[in-house]
Order: sequence, then structure tokens, then C-alpha cells
Amino acid sequence: MYTENLLWPKDLIDLKGLSASHIIAILDAAESFKEISERRIKKVPTLRGKLVVLFFHENSTRTRLSFEIAAKRLSADTLALASSGSSMAKGETLLDTAKNIEAMAPDALVIRHSASGAPSFLGQRLNCPVLNAGDGAHAHPTQALLDLMTIRQRKGSLTGLKVAIIGDIAHSRVARSDMIGLKILGANIAVAGPPSMLVKGLAEEYGVDVFHRPEPALEGADVVVSLRIQLERQSGRLFPGAREYARVYGLNAARLALAKPDALLLHPGPVNQGVEMTPEVYQSPASQILEQVTNGVAIRMALLYLLVDNPDLVRDGQDA
Ligand code: CP
Repeated sequence: MYTENLLWPKDLIDLKGLSASHIIAILDAAESFKEISERRIKKVPTLRGKLVVLFFHENSTRTRLSFEIAAKRLSADTLALASSGSSMAKGETLLDTAKNIEAMAPDALVIRHSASGAPSFLGQRLNCPVLNAGDGAHAHPTQALLDLMTIRQRKGSLTGLKVAIIGDIAHSRVARSDMIGLKILGANIAVAGPPSMLVKGLAEEYGVDVFHRPEPALEGADVVVSLRIQLERQSGRLFPGAREYARVYGLNAARLALAKPDALLLHPGPVNQGVEMTPEVYQSPASQILEQVTNGVAIRMALLYLLVDNPDLVRDGQDA
């Protein structure tokens, strides 16, 4: 099912290194898992007897809850650990904490961390699969996958679509993972944001068009991805204020009208309504923001199914 002739990594750290076939296999699996959440009894026995540990060192609503719901709908047991209530508050290192969790035989570790590279560091040192739930400004692969699923669901294919990504690109792990995933599936990408929220070399590294104003990026777009201003990752103020940002970069009805009439609007959440977009745009028919959240459960069910103790799956480094 879904995985024929594909080698899979032990961990999901980033979308880099995955092929279009891997991503399509994940999206196809998620499509079939989505139906389980629409049943009266939303549970299947796929991961019965398995333990998924949710290790969140940063705030989260959507990612943490949807991983937990996904694991529970597959009948896995879950344990949640936050840094504030753990012995890390007493000085225990990330690795020692993770090794102690591993000693209790989890079948997967889901980690969110403010430090870029923390999931990769643990993935190299633990035997169980490690799934990155967002690390610093580096990557948020499950968010990108649910974004790809949401777009594919409405547009059929991503090949040749124009996707505009607007906002704080420099500090956004969602933007980085979206750009990688969208490129793998053949979309064309235009990014726009204040120069202080862009980084040098974006065009070369990701193969995207870069603009300092939103209008040229939005022109004729099939999909618009609006990003939150990542205040927690900015070392100083990068824009005079929220009102100025909203005036120049915020999505209002006139700006959204530059995109195609059937354009989709995505945002990873949480949305600062009135800053990144007006409440009217948030509630417009283009908005897929809550559908993204629904798809997040399906994507995480698919990933847990594919990476946790799947006997049909051939791992990278094993003979096919
Ligand atoms: N999209 C996202 O990562 O949201 P949370 O921070 O609420 O998990």
C-alpha cells in the first residue's frame, strides 16, 4: 500500500531528500486516512500497542493536538512532555532527556524545539523514528505536507501552479518547507515580504522569484500562502509596526483580487487577523485555513502509519 519500490528514511526531519513519489505516497495515504475522522467511531487498530511520545519545547495548538489525535485514531498510546514540566527545567540536557524517554521503549518521538537541528540531532542518536514538529526557523515538514494536501485536494495537481508566499520568510520554517515541497511537486513560487524579512540567496537556493511588494507576487496566483510575523524569532523590530505592515503587506480584498478568481488562501496559523489579513479575507470562500487543520490530522496519521513499525516498508539502507 502506497510504498511500493520506495526507500523510506527512519525519521522525518525535512522534505529535502524526499522524492515526488514519496510525497505523493504520503498524500495518498493521508487521503484514505482522512475518511476515518469522518466516521461515527473515529478509530482503527493500526498502531495498537504502540507508544508515541510528544515532546514539545515550544508552544503549539494545531501540531501538538493533531499529532495526538492522529496517534489516538490509530489506537496508539500517547504521552506528552513539555520542557516546563520536565526535568529539563532542572538542567537535564535534551539528549539525556531523550535517552531516558527511549529507555521506556517508545515507538516514535515527535519533537518541536526552538533550536534548528534538534530533531536531526536526536534522530541520529535514537533508535525509534523521530518526527520533526517544527525546529527553529529550519523546517516544519508536516505543515508543508498538509499544505500540499490541501492544494492538491482543490486543484488536482500542483504542477505549473503559481504559489505566492507573503510575509516573514526569513524566520518561517513553514516557508522553507513549503518552498521545498512545492518545488518537488512542480509548482512555481513567488515570495514577497519586507526586505528585513527576506534572506539573501532565496532565489538561488529555492528557485523562487523574490519581490519586496506583495502585488507582483499575487498577480495571477493560484494559491496564496500568508505567513505569521514570527516575533519570537526576530532579534529586533523588522517593521515600524503592525498597522504599517497591514497597510503594505496585509491581505485585503483588493490585494487578494490580484490572484486568480478561484485562488486558494492558506495560512499555517495562528493568524493575526487585521495584520496578515483582514477578517473579511480570513472568512472569504478562498480561505482554506480550517481545512488545513483538518488535513493536518490525516497527514500525521499517514506519517505515523508509514514510519512506525510498518512491516511493508523498506527503510533507507535495507535491501529492497
Ligand atoms: N501551524 C502550526 O505549527 O501551528 P501550531 O504552532 O499551533 O502548532
